Amino acid sequence: MTAREAVAVAHPNIALIKYWGKRDEHLVLPFNDSLSLTLDVFPTTTKVRLEPDADADRVVMDGAIARGEVLRRTTAFLELVRELAGRRERAVVETRNTVPVGAGLASSASGFAALALAAAHAYGLSLGAAQLSRLARRGSGSAARSVFGGFVVWHAGDPDAPDPDHTSYAEPVTDARLDASLVAVVLDAGPKAVSSREAMRRTVATSPLYRGWVTDSHADLARMRTALRDGDMACVGEIAERNALGMHATMETARPAVRYLTSASTTVLDEVRRLRREGVGAWATMDAGPNVKVLCASADAEQVAARMREVTGVLVVVARSGPGARHETVTS
Ligand code: DP6
Repeated sequence: MTAREAVAVAHPNIALIKYWGKRDEHLVLPFNDSLSLTLDVFPTTTKVRLEPDADADRVVMDGAIARGEVLRRTTAFLELVRELAGRRERAVVETRNTVPVGAGLASSASGFAALALAAAHAYGLSLGAAQLSRLARRGSGSAARSVFGGFVVWHAGDPDAPDPDHTSYAEPVTDARLDASLVAVVLDAGPKAVSSREAMRRTVATSPLYRGWVTDSHADLARMRTALRDGDMACVGEIAERNALGMHATMETARPAVRYLTSASTTVLDEVRRLRREGVGAWATMDAGPNVKVLCASADAEQVAARMREVTGVLVVVARSGPGARHETVTS
């Protein structure tokens, strides 16, 4: 069969109700539903080219040959695609991130969403949106959400269903009436000491706060969906900040504890609170890294960003609602 190639682009997303913890590691099934906003910055572009004569997959990330964990995860993902497609050819994957890798800005979300779309196409699979989201999920949970633009909900799925894998996928929140932005305050773009995968595992196994946070997240999600429908920025912001702080509390109470937030993160959190006291609607959310993303109405984004730039030594990027994963024309 002729070698096929395909290119796809996907953007990162930031969860406002977090995904933290898997009830099934192999299938990447989470304990709770999560809800995110796909951004319009830091896209990942991925090309997949089938190599009928090769005996191993090759991965080139940002111009360098990937080995170790990146190669292992990409190959495992391609195996899954090959199984679905009933094909055997190995592939070359060339991927370019514009987000600092490992910075808690979700490069694995854009990465696996782009890879899912490009690989599915290259291997001749024709998948619907929910199927693509399920596939991306197997690469990295949060990637299930980057398949779609705007506000997106990822259903944890039904653990008791005959095929639980089938029930866990993301879809757009079509009735959201909120023009929100996320002001990303990048404090550190270096790789993290503990991977989010390991941190989640440890949290689920040892944190006494974990079950409570999962229960709260269910209620948080229902209230947030209503607030999105009502266009209630303050309500969405309060829920998001509380859910993120709750997630960090679960990992800080794991054994051994995981702490991603630094004193610089705290400085930014203090600044966000100061803004609120001054009457500007701004709320913080943080992922598996020290960076803080400040959620606000798009009309306030430049003002919030200007204040964040006053905090010394930080890169500040204003992100708005971005698109879902899409094909790109092959140029080379
Ligand atoms: C803190 O999706 O990177 O960003 O499924 O193990 O690859 P894996 O995890 P990943 O975790 C993201 C965790 C988070 C919260 C979120 O995006 O919901």
